Amino acid sequence: MDYGPAPESQKEAQAWLEQRSRKFGLFIDNEWTSPGETFACYNPADGSQLAELTQASAVDVARAVTAARKALPGWQALGGHGRAKIMYAIARLMQKHARLFAVLETLDNGKTIRETRDADLPLVARHFYYHAGWAQLLDEEFPGHRAVGVVGQIVPWNFPLLMLAWKIAPALAAGNTIVFKPAEFTPLTAMLFAEICQQAGVPAGVVNIVTGDGRTGEAIVGHQGIDKLAFTGSTEVGRIIREATAGTGKKLSLELGGKSPFIVFEDADLDAAVEGLVDSIWFNQGQVCCAGSRLLVQESVQDRFLKKLKARMDNLRLGSPLDKSMDIGALVDPIQKQRIAGLVDSARAEGCEVYQPAGCELPATGSWFPPTLITGASTSAAVAQAEIFGPVLVAMSFRTPAEAVQLANNTVYGLASCVWTENISLALDMAPQIKAGVVWINTANQFDAACGFGGYKESGYGREGGREGMFEYLVPVSEDARPAAPSFKKPAKPDTEFTPSADPFAVDRTAKLYIGGKQARPDGAYSRAIHGADGKFLGEVGEGNRKDIRNAVEAAHKATGWTKATAHNRAQVLYYIAENLAARGAEFAERIAAQTGSKNAEKEVQASIERLFYWAAWADKYDGLAHQPPMHGITVALNEAIGVIGIVCPNENPLLGFISLVAPAIAVGNRVVAVPSEAYPLSATDLYQVFDTSDLPGGVVNIVTGSADELARTLASHFDVDAIWRHDGSAAGCAEVEKLSAGSLKRTWTGGAKGRDWFSTAQAGGRVVLAHASQVKNIWIPYGV
Ligand code: NAI
Repeated sequence: MDYGPAPESQKEAQAWLEQRSRKFGLFIDNEWTSPGETFACYNPADGSQLAELTQASAVDVARAVTAARKALPGWQALGGHGRAKIMYAIARLMQKHARLFAVLETLDNGKTIRETRDADLPLVARHFYYHAGWAQLLDEEFPGHRAVGVVGQIVPWNFPLLMLAWKIAPALAAGNTIVFKPAEFTPLTAMLFAEICQQAGVPAGVVNIVTGDGRTGEAIVGHQGIDKLAFTGSTEVGRIIREATAGTGKKLSLELGGKSPFIVFEDADLDAAVEGLVDSIWFNQGQVCCAGSRLLVQESVQDRFLKKLKARMDNLRLGSPLDKSMDIGALVDPIQKQRIAGLVDSARAEGCEVYQPAGCELPATGSWFPPTLITGASTSAAVAQAEIFGPVLVAMSFRTPAEAVQLANNTVYGLASCVWTENISLALDMAPQIKAGVVWINTANQFDAACGFGGYKESGYGREGGREGMFEYLVPVSEDARPAAPSFKKPAKPDTEFTPSADPFAVDRTAKLYIGGKQARPDGAYSRAIHGADGKFLGEVGEGNRKDIRNAVEAAHKATGWTKATAHNRAQVLYYIAENLAARGAEFAERIAAQTGSKNAEKEVQASIERLFYWAAWADKYDGLAHQPPMHGITVALNEAIGVIGIVCPNENPLLGFISLVAPAIAVGNRVVAVPSEAYPLSATDLYQVFDTSDLPGGVVNIVTGSADELARTLASHFDVDAIWRHDGSAAGCAEVEKLSAGSLKRTWTGGAKGRDWFSTAQAGGRVVLAHASQVKNIWIPYGV
């Protein structure tokens, strides 16, 4: 028996558009501007024009930013409860108008009504409810934090309303005001949302919505009055935004592309896995950043699984998105169809087998692409590496779990992953090894407002949802109190003459680089003289270069045992370093005093010992969370190390500054390439002897001395460095590393021209530092028999 048509009515949605003359201005300060220069949006299922929207100019964006700035004090003065009530009203109104939203979204985007009605809209309401809760609890649960200010938010077209909710709800809860831009293909539900804001009593200027293409996006990104940018979209534009914001001090979160692995082990429930795969790659026509677009299936069940999969593909129904029984709707725009077809053709040309259901007829008008399975592609083929963003699955096989991990991680992306096996022990062994922000075990594409979502590697940084998502819209108040970084003074008259020591036992001691647990001579065989505060020659350190950084990064990469070690074990090593530093405290104090002329040298050594204790204490207490989203199961949020972090240390407090940055990084399992204070590096080079006697495995901390600018540049451009921190007070240097970090989208933590009171735990400690040193992975574990 075949299905009959079950069309959802579009009458109300078309009437809503008609009432607005199918023409929209911008929503600024709670008012609609008259439509200016316009562009059209279309129904991708039949190509018909739906409405005209205004292309917001830089002047329009500036007006929206001004309105948002003006609204900020009033919005914050409402307090958590006041904001919670308004957000609750938004959630209720969204539910009341859910059908209109769902139909409008389907008309504008081409995704099926089943998805907009059953997935997008319930999740949108849930986001506003959940975040109304955070507004209510803000003071209690986020003490010592304030709202960032005016935030700019730019979203893509694949989940227009859901991405709006993911962006706007946490920003409002935290007390920010907003300039929001929907994607040019799909602006309509944002227009309806603006009306909901008016009805819910959102004060004027708190939410401003400007429409337009990338030029409007650029105007938001470039506006000086924006304090934070949140972007979801292509990795390419993410990179542009990272570069454009370098050195501006704007807070940034990026949710970018993916090429997520879907791993099926031989003992998996294969029928359930096929259904999971349908949700994973054919949901929203595969136009999903976390789509399970790479199937990795264990060789022993490959044929059986692919046979089942093809049979299921033959049953997928493609057609009018408003028909309630359709599985696959239209692609957002003909341009996407061309992109996808091009990639599939290239796979054919390379000799891959391309399977598409024979009975799948594409409608004559609109943009459509059939469900597609590609087999026989090499791991380096374009279809195996590029984000196709369409209903195209690439299948490969593996033999062992280790090979599955290797294949899963063979991508520049790291957004999501699925593991299918009935062996829970195997699943939980795989989960930490996969470099992705989400791991779904025996399930796929699950989302909830309580569980953070976001990427590893080039899939971006920052999280949306959960407690961690709230931090993206908050700033610690301690940041406001940071002093200007002191400019270090070079000694007036360096005394480079060698003065024989009065000490009869004196032997020349040359500080070397410290790489892979060994002292290393600098590759270039150059050294630089270090003089004391009084101009006296104190010694020499190696002049590190690119090659030294490369060696140090390689050594850090090899030291994976540190990341796998228990937190208890890492804490023990940090305590041991403290113990050995204390044993040589007087010597370290003397060295600090000689270099900097500080009268506080002993205090600095004391504080450094205490700081080591502090981070050792944290090492086994930075626990994750167990969420209970609305499913039968739990979601475990783990705080994981980022990988290899390059750290350019502050000039002031050469020992305490170094320890305050390196210790938290290694406490949570990272490996470090540290560039010590350029002015006073000897405190750090003295430390490697302490490390050698404290059971710190080789490669965990590597020290390269020399020019901070040059070494930072090399670290920031290095593709195997996962994060870079720069805190030496050089504003230009910080801007440069942020710009260079765009290449591999590494995480950055920079201090700009400001310093930090390194003695103060409020400024140099706490969860804020740990958050920079870690990334959250959410592992979804449904249960039931
Ligand atoms: P896109 O990244 O160009 O657009 C996303 C948003 O950014 C839109 O609102 C757009 O107007 C805005 N934008 C474009 N250029 C900008 C700029 N220079 N500055 C600021 N904002 C800018 O994505 P597009 O062109 O719509 O899709 C292209 C490809 O990107 C897709 O085929 C897919 O591979 C990928 N993509 C990934 C998404 C994800 O969620 N990971 C979402 C959308 C696209």
